[in-house]
Amino acid sequence: MWKKQASLCWLASVYVVCQLVAAKSNQVREEYFITGSNGTLSCPTSENQNIVWHKNGANISDPRISFLIVDSSEAIRKWSYLVPEDEVDDPNAPKLYYTLTIHNFTKSDEGNYTCYNQENGLNMSYTVRTVILPKITQTSNDKIRTKTTSIQQLYCVIEAFPLSHTVYWVKEDASGENSLKALANNSEQRVIDDRHMNATLTLRDLSKANNGTYSCVVMPSAQMQATSLHEVKKSMALLILDVPQVTIDYAKAVGANKIYLNWTVNDGNDPIKNYIVRYLKTGDQTFTYYREKIGGNNSFYVLDGFDPGTDYKISLGASNGQGDSKHHEYSETIRTLDTDPSFTPQVEVKGSTHSTITIGWAPPPANLTDYIQYYELVVSLAGVNASIMKKEAFHPQNSRNLPYMFDNLATATEYTFRVRACSELTKICGNWSDPVNGTTSDGQASAPRNLKITCSHHNI
Ligand SMILES: *[C@@H]1O[C@H](CO)[C@@H](O)[C@H](O)[C@H]1NC(C)=O
Ligand SMILES: *[C@@H]1O[C@H](CO)[C@@H](O)[C@H](O)[C@H]1NC(C)=O
Ligand SMILES: *[C@@H]1O[C@H](CO)[C@@H](O)[C@H](O)[C@H]1NC(C)=O
Ligand SMILES: *[C@@H]1O[C@H](CO)[C@@H](O)[C@H](O)[C@H]1NC(C)=O
Ligand SMILES: *[C@@H]1O[C@H](CO)[C@@H](O)[C@H](O)[C@H]1NC(C)=O
Ligand SMILES: *[C@@H]1O[C@H](CO)[C@@H](O)[C@H](O)[C@H]1NC(C)=O
Ligand SMILES: *[C@@H]1O[C@H](CO)[C@@H](O)[C@H](O)[C@H]1NC(C)=O
Ligand SMILES: *[C@@H]1O[C@H](CO)[C@@H](O)[C@H](O)[C@H]1NC(C)=O
Ligand SMILES: *[C@@H]1O[C@H](CO)[C@@H](O)[C@H](O)[C@H]1NC(C)=O
Ligand SMILES: *[C@@H]1O[C@H](CO)[C@@H](O)[C@H](O)[C@H]1NC(C)=O
Ligand SMILES: *[C@@H]1O[C@H](CO)[C@@H](O)[C@H](O)[C@H]1NC(C)=O
Ligand SMILES: *[C@@H]1O[C@H](CO)[C@@H](O)[C@H](O)[C@H]1NC(C)=O
Repeated sequence: MWKKQASLCWLASVYVVCQLVAAKSNQVREEYFITGSNGTLSCPTSENQNIVWHKNGANISDPRISFLIVDSSEAIRKWSYLVPEDEVDDPNAPKLYYTLTIHNFTKSDEGNYTCYNQENGLNMSYTVRTVILPKITQTSNDKIRTKTTSIQQLYCVIEAFPLSHTVYWVKEDASGENSLKALANNSEQRVIDDRHMNATLTLRDLSKANNGTYSCVVMPSAQMQATSLHEVKKSMALLILDVPQVTIDYAKAVGANKIYLNWTVNDGNDPIKNYIVRYLKTGDQTFTYYREKIGGNNSFYVLDGFDPGTDYKISLGASNGQGDSKHHEYSETIRTLDTDPSFTPQVEVKGSTHSTITIGWAPPPANLTDYIQYYELVVSLAGVNASIMKKEAFHPQNSRNLPYMFDNLATATEYTFRVRACSELTKICGNWSDPVNGTTSDGQASAPRNLKITCSHHNI
């Protein structure tokens, strides 16, 4: 939206420039060419007119410079500004142009070029110079941390020649007219020398709303016509430091004394030092501070030390270098469990082949399935302490049958297996099962042992 406006503006300014030039066609025109490009200068003429081009007052004899008479309608449109306005509709107005083209332009081609019309004495002069395409050579730091209510100045130093570029500032996540006006109002361009300028943006009374990514954008120059239509841009982040904001996302009792908590935080662009928990036990009049602060690098936590089967309200605050957030109280009341949901699997070997052993265990009681989402399994060579393999097995909550097959085992070898149950939420696991031994066969598969098939139906 803003961009569109700016390019409209640019088009409008080209128009203005052309008007001005047409009105002053007797003056010396400036032309800017890019090194390596072909630059063309033009003089109106008509048939039989004797025209000669000079560079800095001398005849031109350079193999890179060529001359041409053109009469295309394109040329007439392109160089219409060379014809005085009152003559444009005149049937005798020049419809021919005598052009000079410098191929592979270099700095040595800079100078004054004049075409002398030896019939009518109308001369055209050009001052030709080399374009320096705009570059942003210096900016404010790309990350600026600042406090609210202070003043901050952002700047970009631009090198270009001619120095006719418009520079504007955009705020990346800015939306709406207001912030646009504010940026335009507070920007300034100071010329340093003939090829450098300093574009600044001054932001006063900084508030959280100023936080964002600001970019200075250099528009293509009107004087360079179609030579460089791409924008040049540099961005810098302005980070307004503030106290954090924290919201408890989810809380749930995970034991007789334990409550799990997770949260989202906006760190106010300053690292969180720690989180502070307060809780209100049913019947108590005031919140109690949790016995310790939680490190700022956490995003969830299992709080400990609550009474079993008791209702609690939980609230969480955060602090950073700027101060403390407001405390956020979780909307629901959390009731701790009457007993810990402890479950230790009873592992059995269910079958084996020469390279696999299948183990299994009975599922936890139905009132614990909420607290157990996966199992950790370890295998070691029997009689050796170090485990050779560690696996995780996920089981859907209603699974009645929990077999797990280890494969790629060595033939006729005895292995020891242990399993423990874990909670996805807290990442806390229960006790390891008693170890069980299993041996791979030396040939054919053994018949399944101790296999019990149960059919059950659950309404979910
Ligand atoms: C410049 O002129 C050369 C001939 O000298 C031509 O081959 C080349 O295509 C021209 N380049 C452009 C960009 O017009
Ligand atoms: C420049 O060119 C004109 C016309 O071709 C010629 O009469 C004149 O002698 C030349 N001058 C020099 C200095 O070569
Ligand atoms: C243009 O000029 C430069 C040096 O002045 C040269 O290295 C380059 O090869 C030239 N390019 C062409 C297309 O003639
Ligand atoms: C070109 O003309 C300008 C005035 O129009 C003059 O100031 C400048 O010195 C001239 N340059 C050369 C190389 O003759
Ligand atoms: C054009 O240049 C010639 C040669 O320098 C000069 O005699 C003539 O007066 C100039 N014409 C105008 C309109 O200035
Ligand atoms: C920008 O400046 C104009 C004129 O000075 C003023 O009317 C307008 O309120 C200013 N806008 C902001 C957002 O400061
Ligand atoms: C550009 O302006 C900024 C802010 O006023 C200033 O800190 C910086 O030194 C200036 N740079 C140059 C090269 O003038
Ligand atoms: C502040 O702006 C930066 C840069 O755009 C962004 O990364 C950060 O998330 C913003 N911080 C806040 C608190 O909005
Ligand atoms: C908090 O835990 C709930 C339940 O597991 C999960 O859906 C949510 O994505 C978690 N939120 C955060 C911020 O970790
Ligand atoms: C947080 O940092 C502490 C101390 O550096 C570290 O012991 C703990 O593992 C970290 N916790 C997380 C969740 O990264
Ligand atoms: C699960 O049920 C058993 C038997 O009914 C009971 O002893 C135990 O406390 C319950 N555990 C949980 C966490 O509810
Ligand atoms: C498993 O085998 C090892 C080595 O043979 C033995 O020491 C251990 O008692 C066995 N464990 C079980 C549970 O049978």
